[in-house]
Amino acid sequence: MTNDAQIALITGATSGLGKATALALTTSGYTVILVARNRERGEAVRQELVAASGNPHVKLLLADLASQGSIRQLAADFHAQHRRLDLLINNAGNSFTTRQVSPDGIELSLAVNHLAPFLLTHLLLPTLRASARARIVNVGTRLNTAMHLDDLQWEKRRYQGLSAYAQSKLGNLHFTLELAERLAGSGVTVNCVHPGVFRSNLGSSGGPQPAWITLMTTLAQPFLTPPEKAAERVLHVATAPELAGVSGRYYGDRVELAPPPQVLDAAARRRIWDLSAALVKLSLSGVPLASAE
Ligand SMILES: NC(=O)c1ccc[n+]([C@@H]2O[C@H](COP(=O)([O-])OP(=O)(O)OC[C@H]3O[C@@H](n4cnc5c(N)ncnc54)[C@H](OP(=O)(O)O)[C@@H]3O)[C@@H](O)[C@H]2O)c1
Repeated sequence: MTNDAQIALITGATSGLGKATALALTTSGYTVILVARNRERGEAVRQELVAASGNPHVKLLLADLASQGSIRQLAADFHAQHRRLDLLINNAGNSFTTRQVSPDGIELSLAVNHLAPFLLTHLLLPTLRASARARIVNVGTRLNTAMHLDDLQWEKRRYQGLSAYAQSKLGNLHFTLELAERLAGSGVTVNCVHPGVFRSNLGSSGGPQPAWITLMTTLAQPFLTPPEKAAERVLHVATAPELAGVSGRYYGDRVELAPPPQVLDAAARRRIWDLSAALVKLSLSGVPLASAE
């Protein structure tokens, strides 16, 4: 029997927002491909989602999104099994207390939070383009910052984990607006969502925190929004019929948000695009403008 369900791929599906969003998609009948870096954790979540939703079409692919080789392998594994992709949710994220580098020698928050979605999306784009009216959703955040184009990797400044996180997450918004422009008329839309502040494991694997931060975070957890509530924002951008064809926008709780000034600067966006393409070794700077095809 063939399965004609819409196919969604979501990164960071083992906890927090990703897991809650994956459950909602699974429950509403999507075939959901979970991306996880740890087989045991991923398989446990896969089984949990199948049991909770009654939908057997939940699959697992493995990738460490810090590694470009692993992302390329993920795309190859996906293409070996699927010819269609209707929804890509770039959700995985992390924050780090000290400056660390990826296997490719790139500062880790930039690698995981910005370059991983940049590379994965490019690798999956031919399939997204071939699938009628596909959507890409980038999970961003709303922190007041700008990207330092002359020091994206914190080589010249004293490393500050929260600022590095904020800068890398702003990359999601730069990427969204620039990609939307390049995909105009292609049938593929891309939007960014700020999920709010909610209960999750964010940063727990990113290195030891000072004891007072661990204590504050633990005490605050019960008062924070549950991830299921935050997932509603992602689902709105991912599935709302009224957003079909809408691209290059930034959403909060079902309302459109204004991007910070730097993101509206087309020259800055293109510079970040080119720097990102070089860091992930994409030739031709990735996607050509639709009008140039
Ligand atoms: N929590 C908030 O208040 C908040 C606010 C604004 C935006 N966000 C954004 O929401 C998104 C989801 O975060 P969350 O809060 O739900 O955090 P979370 O509970 O820590 O979930 C993050 C997910 O990303 C995965 N991940 C991290 N590094 C990875 C890597 N190198 N390779 C593969 N997977 C990796 C984690 O996998 P493991 O289970 O293996 O660690 C986990 O599944 C992130 O983009 C974050 O920036 C969160």
